[in-house]
This record gives sequence, C-alpha cells and structure tokens, in this order.
Amino acid sequence: MKKKFNLYTGLSFLMFLTLITSCTTDPDSPGTEYMPDMYRSPAIETYVDYGEIRGRENTELKTKQSARLTPKYTIPYTGTDSAHVQMMLPNKRKAGAAWQESHGLFGWDLASESGYESARLDTINPLTMTPENAANILKNGEQLYASMCMHCHGEKGDGNGTMIQSGAYGDLGVVPAYKSLDTLSEGKIFHSIYYGKGYMGAHGSLLNKKEIWTLVHYVRQFQREGYGKFEDVAETESNQETAE
Ligand code: HEC
Repeated sequence: MKKKFNLYTGLSFLMFLTLITSCTTDPDSPGTEYMPDMYRSPAIETYVDYGEIRGRENTELKTKQSARLTPKYTIPYTGTDSAHVQMMLPNKRKAGAAWQESHGLFGWDLASESGYESARLDTINPLTMTPENAANILKNGEQLYASMCMHCHGEKGDGNGTMIQSGAYGDLGVVPAYKSLDTLSEGKIFHSIYYGKGYMGAHGSLLNKKEIWTLVHYVRQFQREGYGKFEDVAETESNQETAE
C-alpha cells in the first residue's frame, strides 16, 4: 500500500516539474517544446536549401537541387472552369517515335506513327471563339506569341523574325509565312506547336494546352482576313475547317 502511494507521489511530482519548467515569462515564447518537429513539421518547399535547417548543416543535401519535377502525367491546370479541364488532358494525338531523336521528346507517350496526319480533320479548337471572348483570346495570343514565337515567325507571321534576320538560323530551315499555310487544319497547327515540326522545337512542356489553342487562334488571324473580328457574320464560324 505504501509503495503504491509513493509511485503516485513520484509521478505527480515529475508532472509538476514538467509543467513548471515549460513556462517562461516571455509572452511571445511558446515555452519549452519537447517535440518541435511535431508541432511545426518542416514543409517541403520547392526552392529551399534543405542543406541547412535551423542552423543544422547537412552537407550531403546542401549540394542537391531541391526543386522537384512534377509527377509524371500531372496535368497543368488552374482555374475554376470545368470545361477547361478537358482541354488540359494530354493530347490524344501522339507524335511519332522519331520525335524522340529529332525533338528530344524523352519520357513522352509516343506512337509508332505520328498523329500529325490524323489531326487533320476531326481535331478542332475546343477554345471556341465568340464575339464576347474574341478580343481577349487574341490579346492573350499576342502576348504568348511575342514571347515564344515572334523571334522566328516574325511580328506579322511572315517567317521573318529577328532570329532569321540575324542569320543565326543559317540555312537550317526556312520559317514559312503563315499566310502560305492557310489551309492547315487547327489540329495540325496544334500538333506542330505541341510536338514541334522540322526545325521548330516542341512547345508541349512550355505552354499548356489552353495557351496552345489560344495560339492556334492567333496564327489563324494571320491567315484569314478579318478572323476574330465579328462585324462580319461569315467570319464567326471559327470551327469550320477545310482539310489540307
Ligand atoms: C526556332 C524557331 C521557331 C520558333 C521559336 C517557333 N517556330 Fe513555328 N516554325 C518554325 C519552322 C522552321 C517551321 C517549319 C517547320 C517545317 O514544316 O519543317 C515552323 C512551322 C510552324 C507552323 C506550321 C506547322 C505545320 O504544320 O506546317 C506553325 C503553325 C508554327 N510554326 C507556329 C508556331 C508558334 C505558334 C510558335 C510559338 C509557340 C512557334 N511556331 C515557334 C520555327 C519556329
């Protein structure tokens, strides 16, 4: 009986000591933390040097890049419009296996044959242009075009960008004027931007699909007089495509 009493007293005393030593007079201090990693677990962030955490150095981690690649098949998507989710799914047309060599598409889902030809008829721009959104689409397209395409294709889409003018491109490949490709289907334009074509590199990892479809509209307005201008009713049917 006496032993048990002693045990309880001992335990209570220990608990009392623990509580007392946990307190501090500094109102901003959380007091003694017995397991700080549990209260504040270190969040894994992209650009953080995990080689030094709270003053502790880890030379092995210090030399490693902390930025992680997104998991395979991750679909870039931001926004709240469910209609656009579909647009962000991987392209159903595959580039041919040869693209691995010519365009460096390693780790991509490639087919034995390129889907370029089959993108001819039934792949239409899911980003439908209406009188309400036309100006906005073309404005976004202009921005994307200026940063990703203009240096080769030229401001007016004539294939005479600054990179061609500078001679840096040499005789490698002639950048075609969009106007000369006016029968090109929307699907083919998309395919070429997504996977690249000839001396043009693949942009599938640089632009999301909504951005590429925006650029398809932007390329079109170089090819078709009045495209995206809705004064004329005949021009409103952006999805009416002729096969090449
Ligand atoms: C490095 C220079 C370069 C850049 C950057 C570039 N292109 Fe091209 N583009 C070319 C060349 C060269 C061709 C001709 C490819 C061929 O037919 O061999 C081409 C062809 C095209 C075609 C015709 C494709 C077809 O199916 O015949 C389209 C459309 C096009 N580019 C759009 C774009 C867009 C949009 C961008 C920006 C995202 C872009 N390009 C960026 C060089 C470039």
